[in-house]
Amino acid sequence: MSKLPDTVHFFDTTLRDGEQSPGCSMTQPEKLAMARSLADLGVDILEAGFAIASDGDFEAIDRIAREIRGPVICSLARAKAEDIERAARSLEHAQRRRIHIFLASSDLHLEYKLKISREQALELAAKSVAQAVNFADEVEFSPEDATRSDRDFLCKIVGVAIEAGATIINMPDTVGYATPDEYRAMFREVRERVPGADKVTFSSHTHDDLGLAVANALAAIEGGARQVECTINGIGERAGNSALEEIAAALHVRSDRFGLKNNIKLDHLYSVSQLLSNTISFGPSPNKAVVGSNAFAHESGIHQHGVLSNPLTYEIMTPASVGAPTNRLVLGKHSGRHALRARLVELGYKLSAEDLEVAYRAFTEVADRKKNIYDQDLINLVAHHERHQ
Ligand code: KIV
Ligand code: ZN
Repeated sequence: MSKLPDTVHFFDTTLRDGEQSPGCSMTQPEKLAMARSLADLGVDILEAGFAIASDGDFEAIDRIAREIRGPVICSLARAKAEDIERAARSLEHAQRRRIHIFLASSDLHLEYKLKISREQALELAAKSVAQAVNFADEVEFSPEDATRSDRDFLCKIVGVAIEAGATIINMPDTVGYATPDEYRAMFREVRERVPGADKVTFSSHTHDDLGLAVANALAAIEGGARQVECTINGIGERAGNSALEEIAAALHVRSDRFGLKNNIKLDHLYSVSQLLSNTISFGPSPNKAVVGSNAFAHESGIHQHGVLSNPLTYEIMTPASVGAPTNRLVLGKHSGRHALRARLVELGYKLSAEDLEVAYRAFTEVADRKKNIYDQDLINLVAHHERHQ
């Protein structure tokens, strides 16, 4: 097999797959603002929508194609002539255009959704890709439900798409069914078996139904994928897509393992995540990796002591590296004297060891009663101690 490039391209589908989920719809100006910040973040390909889905989607893609410079702009289409024409029209004003065609390849989808045979699917794949190459700088082909497809047939349809001119082959784990070792092996096998595979870029597209989307995307990279499809905050159909910020952080923190470059500006991650949260109906859960509000918060005394001595004890990346606010030592019933002293110093109180001990005992009583300890609680307990001395 020929040597793989040393750069992983990020394909963002926040505005397409991400928007396709409850609570995530965006207006055209909101999509444009998101697209701008995704371009600033450094995404290589921006999937702006599904042009045939609605006039609103078409107009949003058209507007993004006219105004956003930097990423390749991509429009999704089924393997149908009218979809491809509409996608092509939506991209007319883009600097670089990609049409992304998807067509199911699993027997389940062919029989129950599309009601066509495998032979008909092969014909459609060839015909639609051949049509799309006339309208775009690049054509991506996705055999939908690839991970539940018969492997021989998957290889066949990928081969047909490559022969017709597709230069990006995306193999989606549409229903979040695969495990990382299976997904990695699938990429290796298809790349090995399909003629012409060494001339195209393979891509991962993973869903989080089993909580494995990011692990699967990283496994795909190990299997030879050099494009990852993902969304900000992991929004997307059902349990969501793989989270862009998690993949980018993993490639950075574990560069010892992956040793691959990418164009994402890590320190933009938090602000893009915030922009999306402020646009749609929900934000990431507090314990969400990289961008959640607790991602750099420490409550237990042992952890707080460690972080105060050296943040590396309990932080594998700095908040600043992903553009997040500084770490927080949250005072609660698990906190220790070190964190209490540090917070009191920030509040202007330098207590002797003896006074700190008294304050700490009073603090644990308050912490047992209250869920949240505010600065005013600390000020009150110091003032109470001073009054009774
Ligand atoms: O999950 C999926 O299979 C998709 C395709 C359209 C790529 O979103
Ligand atoms: Zn998807």
